Amino acid sequence: MRLQFYVLSDYNPKLIMTTHILLKDIENDIFSFQEYQLRGGYASVEKALRGMSPDDVIEEVKKSGLRGRGGASFPTGMKWSFLDRKSGKPRYLVCNADESEPGTFKDRYLMEMIPHRLIEGMIVSSYALGSHKSYIYIRGELMWIAKKLEAAIQEAYQHGYLGENILGSGFSMDLYVHLGAGAYICGEETALLESLEGKRGNPRLKPPFSATVGLYGCPTVVNNVESLASVPWIVNNGGEAYSKIGIGRSTGTKLISACGHINNPGVYEIEMGLPVEEFLYSSDYCGGIKDGKALKAVIPGGSSVPILPKELILRTAAGAPRLMSYESLMEGGFETGSMLGSGGFIVMDESTCIVRNTWNFSRFYHHESCGQCSPCREGTGWLEKVLHRLLHGQGKQKDIDLLVDITKKMEGKTICSFGDAAGWPIASAVRHFRREFEAFLTK
Ligand SMILES: Cc1cc2nc3c(=O)[nH]c(=O)nc-3n(C[C@H](O)[C@H](O)[C@H](O)COP(=O)(O)O)c2cc1C
Repeated sequence: MRLQFYVLSDYNPKLIMTTHILLKDIENDIFSFQEYQLRGGYASVEKALRGMSPDDVIEEVKKSGLRGRGGASFPTGMKWSFLDRKSGKPRYLVCNADESEPGTFKDRYLMEMIPHRLIEGMIVSSYALGSHKSYIYIRGELMWIAKKLEAAIQEAYQHGYLGENILGSGFSMDLYVHLGAGAYICGEETALLESLEGKRGNPRLKPPFSATVGLYGCPTVVNNVESLASVPWIVNNGGEAYSKIGIGRSTGTKLISACGHINNPGVYEIEMGLPVEEFLYSSDYCGGIKDGKALKAVIPGGSSVPILPKELILRTAAGAPRLMSYESLMEGGFETGSMLGSGGFIVMDESTCIVRNTWNFSRFYHHESCGQCSPCREGTGWLEKVLHRLLHGQGKQKDIDLLVDITKKMEGKTICSFGDAAGWPIASAVRHFRREFEAFLTK
């Protein structure tokens, strides 16, 4: 495994050691409990349940600065401290393993390759939150990974890390795997809870938030796979150590699933703050653009975030090197920036047709809208239709502005942020590649 890489930071080469927190030991096939434990697995459960109070664990997670890896980047420790502990009702921890965002495939990799890392994270986090029944809600198509998780969970029961009175600590918990039915909207946390309750996966109106009224009307925390899998390292090494990795408020490491026209597609664990240029061209990561072609554009955080042309993905509008961090990718707002989102890094070379690509995404969002809110239900359909007619030479000049107008009428006007997610890629494609849209006009 390559643990080092050179970064051209402000043009002064320096050696950076990559800390591997999530993919550590991945090369050693640590599927089984024994292999995982041999390499330090489950140490955080021993440490937390034998020597730390639930509040101590929450405090370490707060100190770490860990931000949710599902896309919204909300601070995990803060989210945990919002959980209603006074209601007298059961509390639940639910892991969001729905991962249906086009371009994002890091959670499935982590669960498939090191299932015990998530289970360890679920146990420690459940202890911190006082959840005695916790769930992993996994996307339906990932049946074989669900089976791996179930087998790993059985091993954890057999070794006394799940079930009654874990390690004699007095803390008991059960962990269940629940398969969804393959709907993108069920990744939205309240739609996920509806689905877990056996209902149609429609997002809920907020407030009340899940921290007070979540699963079965009880206080609930929903966290992404990667967020929860980061917790064991934080407990073992301390929140402060984690906060020192990365850059500014983007602490720790991040899994990035890289795909598209690159030489080395795959899942990479990077330290936050790695320059985008380094990630894109270093042979340790994407390895440059395939077939020696030129870079055209990148969608850096999964299909829902704004697309950036070559000039703006490598450098900010102010000329600073663009970094793989929440702040740097957002620099310039949506005019010239984008988002780190869920870390789905989609690379497009010079041969890519942006109009066709945008239409393709619009088909996805139209298909996946739950239909509950009319701006999203109707808007996603209109976007697809307008893009389709533009692509087939039947569009008019005003259609290009109509696209942007529709996205504005969806943004912020729906129960969940699906409407925003469907509009941003389209509005940004028009913003940065208007000429390409115009080239399709025949009328
Ligand atoms: C349409 C939509 C789809 C989403 N899909 C996912 C998903 O697949 N996985 C995920 O962790 N979060 C997803 N989210 C974000 C979740 O609502 C929620 O913010 C996240 O699970 C919280 O976990 P975190 O704080 O650890 O990031 C989605 C949000 C929306 C609006």
